Amino acid sequence: MKKGTLLLLMFALALQGQAQGLKDVFKKDFLMGVSLNPRNVRNAAEQDLIRKEFNSVTCENAMKPGPLHPSPGVWKWEEADRIANFCRENGIKMRGHCLVWHNQFADWMFYDESGNPVDKETFYVRLKDHIQTVMNRYKDVIYAWDVVNEAMSDGGDNPYRNSKLYQLCGDEFIAKAFQFAREADPNAILFYNDYNECDRRKSRNIYNMVLKMRANGVPIDGIGMQGHYNIYKPTVEELDAALALYAPLVEHIHVTELDVRVNQEMGGQLRFSTDGAALSDSIQALHTQQYERLFKTFQKYGDKIDCVTFWNLHDGCSWLGERNHPLLFDKNLQPKPAYYRLVGK
Ligand code: XIL
Repeated sequence: MKKGTLLLLMFALALQGQAQGLKDVFKKDFLMGVSLNPRNVRNAAEQDLIRKEFNSVTCENAMKPGPLHPSPGVWKWEEADRIANFCRENGIKMRGHCLVWHNQFADWMFYDESGNPVDKETFYVRLKDHIQTVMNRYKDVIYAWDVVNEAMSDGGDNPYRNSKLYQLCGDEFIAKAFQFAREADPNAILFYNDYNECDRRKSRNIYNMVLKMRANGVPIDGIGMQGHYNIYKPTVEELDAALALYAPLVEHIHVTELDVRVNQEMGGQLRFSTDGAALSDSIQALHTQQYERLFKTFQKYGDKIDCVTFWNLHDGCSWLGERNHPLLFDKNLQPKPAYYRLVGK
């Protein structure tokens, strides 16, 4: 064999060995992320899939205040550490999720030892300790944090969610949380994260809140759009309107929790149907088309969007249940038609 032919053959073989994943296909646009549970990083096949496809990881639950810090002075680091160590070993960056949320929160922070409500100053001392302890532990591997999650309401006159946090502190808890976070790690990109950003009322309320906070010097660097969508909604126009609204306001937009379920529900509410729909050819086609439309719109805002994260690795471990068929990989880790459409095969 001639030397030139041999070199060509070796080059072709090397290319084949380096299978292209989502992270390579979208390299010019954004990081490709996935949320993980600790079982994902114990399973060899799932580890391979993560390494091939993704270059950003979020803990699905392990870094939330409730699971991590269930009572005063008690820290459960094991699961968060397991996922963080997998990322450290594999050179994968992490998004931290989340420091303040009305669900899965460390509700003990609201009460004293006798069970009486504490004042907001006491609450802030506890919150600051929580935020700074967690951020310091993972500073080396986490580049962005969802500091406040879902503080805005889904309807009614009050733009803010009437949570325990809001009842005690008004909207000041948002400002405090971001200030504590900035103090802990001046290099981390700090996000306000929420769902149903394609609902005009809600996106406008999110916009107004972030605008007001930033005008007051609150260090909000970015808006996280959760992206719990379905095969019908949002339309391109709805998604584009939300992105056009947010893009001039903040330095960064992340799509933080993407999935596309096959029924008509959407959003981050924890009450939903796990029934989904039978995966007929026409439903599968809508699923594929919706992912294609979403990614085209994300790419249009590629200068502003720097990470797109799927909420869970495959349908078998989706928080929505496998009958909602929301992800790019089925429960056997096999790529679905939507995957092939996105990677252009
Ligand atoms: C979900 C997890 O996926 C579930 O395992 C858990 O039981 C509840 O929380 N919005 C968010 C995420 O910001 O933290 C939620 O994650 C999904 C909705």
